[in-house]
Amino acid sequence: MDDNLNLYFDNAATSWPKPEAVYKAPEKQMRQAYGNPGRSGHTHTLESDRLLYQTREAIGRLFSFSDPARLIFALNATDALNIAIKGFLNPDDHVLYTAMEHNSVLRPLGRLRRDELISTTMIPCSNQGYPDLDYFEKAFQNNTRLLVVNHASNVTGTIAPLKEMIESAHRRGVKVLVDAAQTAGVIPIDVLKENIDLLAFTGHKGLFGPTGTGGLYVAPWIDLKPLREGGTGSQSEIDIHPESMPERLEAGTLNSTGLAGLLEGVNFILETGVEEIHRKESELRDYLYKQLQKISGLTLYGPEFNSHSVSVLSFTLNGADCGEIGYILESNYGILCRTGLHCAPMAHQAIGTFPEGTVRLSPGYFSSQDDLDYLVNAVHDIVQLASE
Ligand SMILES: Cc1ncc(COP(=O)(O)O)c(C=O)c1O
Repeated sequence: MDDNLNLYFDNAATSWPKPEAVYKAPEKQMRQAYGNPGRSGHTHTLESDRLLYQTREAIGRLFSFSDPARLIFALNATDALNIAIKGFLNPDDHVLYTAMEHNSVLRPLGRLRRDELISTTMIPCSNQGYPDLDYFEKAFQNNTRLLVVNHASNVTGTIAPLKEMIESAHRRGVKVLVDAAQTAGVIPIDVLKENIDLLAFTGHKGLFGPTGTGGLYVAPWIDLKPLREGGTGSQSEIDIHPESMPERLEAGTLNSTGLAGLLEGVNFILETGVEEIHRKESELRDYLYKQLQKISGLTLYGPEFNSHSVSVLSFTLNGADCGEIGYILESNYGILCRTGLHCAPMAHQAIGTFPEGTVRLSPGYFSSQDDLDYLVNAVHDIVQLASE
């Protein structure tokens, strides 16, 4: 199908369209800055070194940290979360996490728990996706070392009360890993002011980069064991992986081609302003929520007030099959969305939509109110059809 005929409401899965420069940068990198970064000393290697450094710096500006070496590149948020979780935890540690976590947190924790290396406690969440803070306060144990929080849910859009949770964890000496897969580039994040110890993000969603890009901010007081060891282009005479950051957590040739695109995505955000992106996306989500609320038979999931959420919301229709609704939206209306569990089974348990899941709509910065009107009319038609 011609992409121009589609209306794209699946930005929570991956953002589309991208700013024009994001499409062009990978080609330019492959033609001009193609050397293997950190390896040789020739012109094209230096150009690719410079490109990576600029990308680290731009991401540092976005998240307000000044030392680019505290940023390591990863394949995506899943990779960054694995590097953080498996690199930080020791045997017998206890971990807290919320019911809104994605499988990219649930599964690494589940593996370590099944191997009897760690113990975990899940903080339940309300049917709006808010963590139960009373439960949370009582869930700490003597051996709790890490709290993992999904900054904003990819099912309901709910923004977690990060400030309260970080303060509470830090009072007990517990470090905090924030999963910013749905918030990076979309709501302002200041890792220093917010005292974030570890921030994992993906490049292909709110940062507008290509797939295969992402990263992890590691606070200066955090030391992670490397998951991967190998070539770094530095200290090649020794058979122990270098200690210095970022090489300590980056082995092998980096995805310079994808990162060239990511740099342009981040530059677009820095020029536009995260606040402006958040303002526009909040307006869109607010409008969509209010319009869908008028359609009887639909159940909406996620906070009613856009200040509590990112541009994601879910709905179900009186027991109708979500996959079928998604199919009709695409085949009859050219509307692209996501249906099912969205890799977050516990979140669906919390909001009462397990195992069927929901229809998820996630307008992006480039969506318009006209697009939303078309979407709302399509949902309205489907509801009418279902009631006949
Ligand atoms: C909250 C959350 N965490 C982690 C991820 C994983 O991101 P990626 O697939 O880029 O690794 C996603 C992706 O949907 C997500 O929504």
